Amino acid sequence: HLHQPTICGMPLKYVSLVTLAVQNAALSIVMHYSRVSIPPSLAYSPATAVLLNELLKGSISFVIAFLRSPVLNQHPLTRRKPTNTPFLWWSAFSDLCGEIFSPDCWKLSIPAILYVVQNSLQFVAISNLPVASFQVTYQMKILTTAAFSVVLLRKKLTSVKWFSLFFLAIGVGIVQIQNSAGKGHVGLGKSSATAVGSAHEFHVHVMSPLKGFGAVTAACFTSGLAGVYFEMVLKGSKADLWVRNVQLSLFSLIPALLPILWASPPPNSQGFLYDLFRNFGAWAWATVAIQVFGGLVTAVVIKYSDNILKGFATSLSIVLSFLASVALFDFRITPSFVIGASTVLAATWMYNQPTPSSSTLPSAASSP
Ligand code: C5P
Repeated sequence: HLHQPTICGMPLKYVSLVTLAVQNAALSIVMHYSRVSIPPSLAYSPATAVLLNELLKGSISFVIAFLRSPVLNQHPLTRRKPTNTPFLWWSAFSDLCGEIFSPDCWKLSIPAILYVVQNSLQFVAISNLPVASFQVTYQMKILTTAAFSVVLLRKKLTSVKWFSLFFLAIGVGIVQIQNSAGKGHVGLGKSSATAVGSAHEFHVHVMSPLKGFGAVTAACFTSGLAGVYFEMVLKGSKADLWVRNVQLSLFSLIPALLPILWASPPPNSQGFLYDLFRNFGAWAWATVAIQVFGGLVTAVVIKYSDNILKGFATSLSIVLSFLASVALFDFRITPSFVIGASTVLAATWMYNQPTPSSSTLPSAASSP
């Protein structure tokens, strides 16, 4: 614990977890608002958002990997920070490119495709489900992550963990019952009517809970598989996390570009770039910014914490987005939502209880 990095005196581990919880809640609220607050004719393209996310995340990861380069930070002769001569910058750059295009980089192609599919499905889900229901149902990724860990990583789960997974499924089921029995559409209240402009522009965004539930279920599968696959690749080599992130983003560009290149231009097309950024306003940019930030924080959480604690952060975000939904989207608290969400939270807490063997592991692993 001597090497625990800190920010303003607080351990980075906990700062990144709390940041991830707030980011998760903010993303579902801003993404939901960016989709439902405007009439379908003025909607932006989710494909553009997914592509921008990968481009920005990849560029930022590249800069971080470059600045962390051993060539720049430790001169082999002096063992001191060198003066940044153009030669050093160039050798750091070529070193990094060599690492990025290493022979095993193709391994990242699988999680890259899965994450692009997941990020696209997220748009379908959030446009068709209330924010709080989306967040609760999305907790099912704990279930899929566990299943893929058992199958692919040959992990053993304790009976307490299986029991909590069973409860998690029940909790999600209860939330779904209230969701399908309830309204299929949501009339937007004061705040969104103001955002559109005048009173006559007020519109009702039709939501299809079945479509939303289908999308979120599929996203849970890609999340579990991509997460476990990424863990396998990360633990199977010594490559830097930021280099892996650049590789992930590079491979993501192919599936992210395909729907954009294949889409037939709209009848009133005004050029490729114009069509790409049609209706891409402040809320769309905010969605992309929060997504990019989330991808980077996820990387930090995986590095300084672990996937188990990451589960805590996402379940904390349920409470945050639930409270925000009540305030922003006229979300009505029903007894079945409270029972379902509490069951999910209790199951997440139970699942994250350390097992006797795993509680002894971190201290053993952290000793040099
Ligand atoms: O919570 P979950 O693991 O499903 O979230 C994955 C999200 O984080 C995806 O949007 C993915 O694009 C992003 N991610 C990332 N870099 C990683 C791992 C995940 O940007 N190394």
